[in-house]
Amino acid sequence: MAEAVPRPTADRRNYMKLEVTSLPPNAELCRLAVAVFAAALPFTLAEIEELKVAVSEAVGNCALHAYPEDPGRVEVRARYEDVGLCVDVQDWGRGIDDVERARQPAFTTSSDPDHMGLGFAFMEQFTDVLEVTSTPGSGTLVRMRKRPAAAAGGAPA
Ligand SMILES: Nc1ncnc2c1ncn2[C@@H]1O[C@H](COP(=O)(O)OP(=O)(O)OP(=O)(O)O)[C@@H](O)[C@H]1O
Ligand SMILES: [Mg+2]
Repeated sequence: MAEAVPRPTADRRNYMKLEVTSLPPNAELCRLAVAVFAAALPFTLAEIEELKVAVSEAVGNCALHAYPEDPGRVEVRARYEDVGLCVDVQDWGRGIDDVERARQPAFTTSSDPDHMGLGFAFMEQFTDVLEVTSTPGSGTLVRMRKRPAAAAGGAPA
């Protein structure tokens, strides 16, 4: 029988950093890595699913918007905080001219009807804190914080 894979430790000294090219399939790799890392905290499966959506939206944006011509570098970092998780998705691509406008639901610069401008709305809905900092021409940092509802005193789902 196969041995169980050990869970990561929630030791606050523990962190993860994953560097990938901004090719669309790598969004799956990043979201799975963050999900495994997050599993050391008392997240419900539904919360882990939310985290996965938020991470893949952020990494997907790097492929689509940060580096529209050639794939570039994307870093996904995660660390434990007092009672939750902090995840950074950073690129060094095109950057965002007006972050406030970009965060509005249904705002998109894409002409592809499959992209409805909802990525930031999902990130906002599925995390507790979403910070976006960007410099046009230099890149974008998306920082998401999420704490397990159980840790915040709520009943687990
Ligand atoms: N990493 C990034 N680099 C440059 N621009 C970005 C980045 N992330 C988002 N944007 C800009 O912000 C806009 C809104 O992003 P959002 O993810 O909400 O929607 P979308 O990607 O256009 O569509 P959807 O996510 O629904 O497929 C994008 O259209 C793009 O102009
Ligand atoms: Mg998007």
